[in-house]
Amino acid sequence: MSVKTRREARLAGLSVTRQRSVRAGRQEWPVGAIRWRMLKAPALADVYAARPRVARVVRPTPLIRHPLLSRETGLDILVKHENHNPTGAFKVRGGVNLIGSLTAEERRGVVTATTGNHGQSIALACAREGVPCTIVTPLDNNPEKNAAMRAYGAELIEFGRDFDEARERVEQLQHERGLRYVHSADEPLLIAGVGTYALEIFEEQPDTDLILVAIGGGSGACGCSIVRTGLGSRAKVIGVQAERADAFARSWKGPSRVVGERCDTLAEGMATRVTFDLPFGILRKELDDVVTLSEDELAEGVRLALRTTHNLAEGAGAASLITAVKLRDRLAGKKVVCVMSGGNIDRGTLTRILTAA
Ligand SMILES: Cc1ncc(COP(=O)(O)O)c(C=O)c1O
Repeated sequence: MSVKTRREARLAGLSVTRQRSVRAGRQEWPVGAIRWRMLKAPALADVYAARPRVARVVRPTPLIRHPLLSRETGLDILVKHENHNPTGAFKVRGGVNLIGSLTAEERRGVVTATTGNHGQSIALACAREGVPCTIVTPLDNNPEKNAAMRAYGAELIEFGRDFDEARERVEQLQHERGLRYVHSADEPLLIAGVGTYALEIFEEQPDTDLILVAIGGGSGACGCSIVRTGLGSRAKVIGVQAERADAFARSWKGPSRVVGERCDTLAEGMATRVTFDLPFGILRKELDDVVTLSEDELAEGVRLALRTTHNLAEGAGAASLITAVKLRDRLAGKKVVCVMSGGNIDRGTLTRILTAA
């Protein structure tokens, strides 16, 4: 298919992202030149293709019914423990799939921006594959996530007041150093990789009625809904965002995509002020609803996870659980899966949350 412009790409049903590059294939582009990178939404077949690559690093995670959680909520809830993965988050599935699929040229080095779990995923995968890895995190990022990325051998650069400013620095580094920019969301291979957690859910519990999943860039919700639709399940997929980082929720509900003013939430896994072409395009069609949570609700989620499942969940990781409580009436009588997407909370945040109780 020959597609030359953004408009043609959209008409062809492709997602498009703008990428500046000094190297495009064998051709040198002037710094600042713009090329369009065509992104095709992954399908169920891509998730199946990802599975053997992901399985080299990730074992199927437990899907557990916790009696205390059922009693406290009065709901039939299963928790998908993505916090039990290597790196402590579901993101590792995407990183392993993408880095395991790089071309020889791309293996010279990658660069990415992160608040931590995406970065840990890329850092772990690069360490396994011997690919040099540069990561930009916002200043004041979760210090324990930063330490973990360094421990995997990544070069860490701290820049910008939030994830979106860190991302801009990555775009510069990409030109300066000629690195492969691994976007945190506009990457079909990341989405296909993380979709493997949803395969595990539906294979174990095909009669699932509803899945609650936290949304930052949207890769986790995309993977889940692509698998749901591909398998012909009637389960609903409901996304969760923080009120203080709700660009996706407002964009999905509203007439047009918005850029948020802030993303200062304790749940840094969901902290972005923007939406991204590929996941937004997928979720506009696939997602069934999106709910937002206050900071108090997010903190209560962490406490709820600890009290009823004895798991350490970070804000984004516990968001699905507290959303189940919030939607209790709507979820009554349904088989609900809450994705505990990550457990990498730092001690300072955890102490604040526990002492505020
Ligand atoms: C623990 C956790 N949950 C949820 C998310 C949101 O994932 P996504 O950006 O795929 O929507 C992230 C993102 O890093 C995360 O780390």
